[in-house]
Amino acid sequence: MDSSEFLDFLISRTSVRDYLDEELTEDDIVFLLDSASTAPSAGNLEAWDVVVIRETDQKEALMGAAYDQPQLEAAPVLFVVCANYVRSMSRYGERGILYAVQDATIACTYMMLAAHSRRLHSCWVGAFDEDGVRDILGLPPHIRAVAILTVGKGRPHGTLTERMAVGEHVHFDTW
Ligand SMILES: Cc1cc2nc3c(=O)[nH]c(=O)nc-3n(C[C@H](O)[C@H](O)[C@H](O)COP(=O)(O)O)c2cc1C
Repeated sequence: MDSSEFLDFLISRTSVRDYLDEELTEDDIVFLLDSASTAPSAGNLEAWDVVVIRETDQKEALMGAAYDQPQLEAAPVLFVVCANYVRSMSRYGERGILYAVQDATIACTYMMLAAHSRRLHSCWVGAFDEDGVRDILGLPPHIRAVAILTVGKGRPHGTLTERMAVGEHVHFDTW
């Protein structure tokens, strides 16, 4: 893939919240997880973990914790991507809290793009009640759910999402 194909690949991804009633294959799931494990991480400590959700009951419960966003029930698989504070703080102390969140975020990003490379659809879900998700999944205290990625074959809405002009983000040499 050359750089213009790479940009086209990125531009063509959009969040999809409407899913077909079709399972992901085991191979799809392994591909996404293998992709996440190639992500960079602070000190290569890989301070992220993921809970793969396929059970209907768990999806329904998580939908409740995510303020009833229907894509959580509709998607065949959810990936709850978590920061693992112990793994990162054991080396980096307080700074490790931030690193673990960044490690989880980039792992989730890799999974999202891996899904796109397989013509699967996804939606990053950040709006959820953390305590609710903790209870449903039985997360230990040093694990923080950072994002839920819904993945499946979906019905894209067909329009590309608008962005700010990139120049509005960018500052050269000083703010
Ligand atoms: C940190 C973060 C949190 C998000 N939370 C939600 C969410 O709770 N529900 C949702 O439907 N979409 C959520 N999204 C998806 C965004 O709405 C979406 O990425 C954005 O509108 C741009 O659209 P696009 O993904 O189609 O390019 C979230 C995305 C990010 C990165």
